[in-house]
Amino acid sequence: MLNKENILKSLAAVKIPDLKNDLVTSGMISSLEIVGEIVRFDLVFSTPTNNHEKVKEECIKKIKNDFPNVTEVFVSIKSKVTTSAKKNLSDILPYVKNTIAVASGKGGVGKSTVAVNIAAALAKDGAKVGLIDADIYGPSIPLMLGVRERPKMIPVGPDTRMLPVEQYGIKLMSIGFLVENNVPVIWRGPMASGAVKQFMSDVEWEELDYLLFDMPPGTGDIQLTLCQTIPLTGAVIVTTPQEVSVADARKALHMFTRVNVPIVGVVENMSYFIAPDTKNRYNIFGTDGGKNLAEECNCAFLGGIPIEQGIRTGGDKGVPVIYNEPDSEHARIFTEISRTLTREIEHINESHSQFPTIEIIK
Ligand SMILES: Nc1ncnc2c1ncn2[C@@H]1O[C@H](COP(=O)(O)OP(=O)(O)OP(=O)(O)O)[C@@H](O)[C@H]1O
Ligand SMILES: [Mg+2]
Repeated sequence: MLNKENILKSLAAVKIPDLKNDLVTSGMISSLEIVGEIVRFDLVFSTPTNNHEKVKEECIKKIKNDFPNVTEVFVSIKSKVTTSAKKNLSDILPYVKNTIAVASGKGGVGKSTVAVNIAAALAKDGAKVGLIDADIYGPSIPLMLGVRERPKMIPVGPDTRMLPVEQYGIKLMSIGFLVENNVPVIWRGPMASGAVKQFMSDVEWEELDYLLFDMPPGTGDIQLTLCQTIPLTGAVIVTTPQEVSVADARKALHMFTRVNVPIVGVVENMSYFIAPDTKNRYNIFGTDGGKNLAEECNCAFLGGIPIEQGIRTGGDKGVPVIYNEPDSEHARIFTEISRTLTREIEHINESHSQFPTIEIIK
């Protein structure tokens, strides 16, 4: 019989990978209506909207299969990215739901590459994304995203505020937009963290689901000050599989946990190399260093990224790999990592939740 109860029973049987409970128990079905032989409902996700068509199709197929008399099933996909429970976040970034540091202990392991490509993948999936280059002494974002324009200034009440620069749907702020090309920034530590603070307080950030921070390498004073200055939902730790990198990543991870920043997960970069001619796999920097670190620290392993010429050239050309080589395996890996990241942030927010979530209908 066609009624709400039976429709919900039918939808509860739709299999969704990565979901702890079924669609109904997870509260993802809302505004269910049956009008004659027409069924209509909203499918509410806690992650960005653009990657859920498959789930929608499965739901429609299941209902049409279980209720042959149903003539139409209308499903609207909605997104309700949860808000971080960090108390001071709403003071300094009132419209930002989640802030994520992308950090490592060792330099040159691919933080900026990972931050840029994850930001691009999230934006492509329909999330509202921002990226702050917190590496004041070595800003990479302008080059890696092919932008070097001065942010516009706008009057806001008696003050003037900067508008973030936008590229590939990502809102950006970097010291590289403000200083002349090739001029090094020579500042003392407090000035550097002061600049990052201004990137939060003096920039007109509109509503964002995720604001990423590309962190400078290391675990010294500047990094510690930064992770205490930024009200972080969590940190993503980037490492190569190599022990020298893992040892430094472990230090970075402990630095964040010491100041009560949850670890969203570990990304292993430069995990392996597939020779383009022979297709042989080479584990140039060793195997599983990042995976083992995640296991040891009881946090999520977000994925492993191969060494790929396309990742390097994409960075140099200022084009994220999901645009430069959209059909490549590494583009798929970045997309997968960004989706796993959104689910992990969701878990962090669930376990720390103190505030009601803000619903955004897309
Ligand atoms: N998976 C990869 N395959 C190929 N090249 C990569 C990969 N990841 C990063 N690179 C390249 O390695 C170099 C260092 O990467 P990146 O600048 O992202 O590291 P970083 O950790 O941000 O460095 P820093 O500590 O200086 O901020 C860049 O030239 C980048 O293009
Ligand atoms: Mg960097």
